[in-house]
Amino acid sequence: MKEKHPITFTIFGATGDLAQRKIIPALMDLYCKDLLPENFKVVGFSRKDLSDQDYRTFAFNSIENKGDKHPAEKVDEFISKIHYKQGNIDNLDNYQSLANYLKDIDIKLGDCSNKLFYLAVPPNLYKSIFENLSGSGLGNPCVAEGEKRWVRILVEKPFGSDQDEARNLDKILGKLFKEDQIFRIDHYLAKETVQNILTFRFANAIFEPIWNKNNIEKVEISLYEKNDVSERANFYDGIGALRDVGQNHILQMMALIAMEDPKSMRPESIRDSRGKIFSDIKINKKDLKEFIRSQYNGYLNEEGVETNSKTETYFKVKLGVKNKRWDGVPFYLESGKALNDSSSEIKIIFKDKESSVCPIDGVCRYNNELTINIQPKKTISLCFWTKKPGLSFELEQKSLSFDYDDNQIDVADAYEKVLYDCIKGDQSLFASTYEIATQWGIISDIFKLWKNIPLGKYEKGSNPIGISEQVSNNNHRGEGLPVKVLSDKN
Ligand code: BG6
Repeated sequence: MKEKHPITFTIFGATGDLAQRKIIPALMDLYCKDLLPENFKVVGFSRKDLSDQDYRTFAFNSIENKGDKHPAEKVDEFISKIHYKQGNIDNLDNYQSLANYLKDIDIKLGDCSNKLFYLAVPPNLYKSIFENLSGSGLGNPCVAEGEKRWVRILVEKPFGSDQDEARNLDKILGKLFKEDQIFRIDHYLAKETVQNILTFRFANAIFEPIWNKNNIEKVEISLYEKNDVSERANFYDGIGALRDVGQNHILQMMALIAMEDPKSMRPESIRDSRGKIFSDIKINKKDLKEFIRSQYNGYLNEEGVETNSKTETYFKVKLGVKNKRWDGVPFYLESGKALNDSSSEIKIIFKDKESSVCPIDGVCRYNNELTINIQPKKTISLCFWTKKPGLSFELEQKSLSFDYDDNQIDVADAYEKVLYDCIKGDQSLFASTYEIATQWGIISDIFKLWKNIPLGKYEKGSNPIGISEQVSNNNHRGEGLPVKVLSDKN
């Protein structure tokens, strides 16, 4: 349902990469789908000295670059609702003038608008923004005709850079805003194919009885990227792949695969079910020999990277979930930049069982595999075995599959969904404070454990299989790992 009151979207980091590639095009899409209220405004806030017209040109280009086909008059209408306010993120006075600016907008709209503040800035700026939003009164909803409007804050990931920082940010946020005003983004949760995991698991009763340690041998979750970090090296260096996508996107995919049925679609139930998995995740010290961290050759020459940076651009880790359903099943999580291809997928590999169709003299390796392709393919496929046509009794692998693209389904962009749900006030696809804290706990444990593992090197354009084989041979050749294990949670 469409929000009936006006909304003012204020974007901090208005001229950045995220605003340009994702936020503005997503708002444009929502506008074309008639999912924004009758009256709305977009206000870019940033240090640069720009006019409304300059920022409208920026917005127009970002829509053009995205390449979606929108009617020209719709684009013009949308662009005319865009404004720009220059300001410094750490200057309270500038927030006071932003507050006046937004008040003027409300006066012109003849109403008091809901306010959505989008923090499309690096995490080290969050604290200033939270405090200044609150200090300037911008965090207080306005009231019209006796009805309170909402104020919501959309915070990009990473939320902090470790568990302590995340806790501190939460403490500040908790003092200034209510939990139902805070939307911590993990855009993977908003991907159509990721959302579908819940439906696939819990609407199809045939899978539930086999979704456990008795039938599943292992789970592999990967997020491979062809792009290197060149354009974002400044941000990336010191953060690395594990914090950039492991702490959030990959752990969230793992939670959706491992979680119990939330029993209801209420946001709290879904978030609780995901969060429970994070607290059950354990690292077994014996598995450390399978951990890999590596960096692509040439990374050190990227602009903004420290000369001797040890930041990993690739990682592979093996985790377990210590509960009744999963105890003993390995979850391999892997990601890297500058690889030979881009793809995100989840593989559930089922155990093979001895049976009458096993060759008399051979080993029975007829296991089934379920693959959930998140992107660029948007498929779910199940591999199974059939009898090969012919006179002899031989088996061959076939698959059953569902492909979103076959049906020309218009799959909404994750950022559209993020904004849409925030407008509706639905927090299901946003990480709770508990989830963020427990995710950071896992990542901190991995960091403590793997700091003595030598950092491997790989060539740009490498195949991840090659990296993991080569690096693991180099790192773990010989008698074992020179690592000091700090905690054994088993
Ligand atoms: C972001 C990371 O959160 O996710 C990026 O900061 C990464 O480094 C991106 O490239 C991947 O998202 P997507 O939707 O392009 O797979």
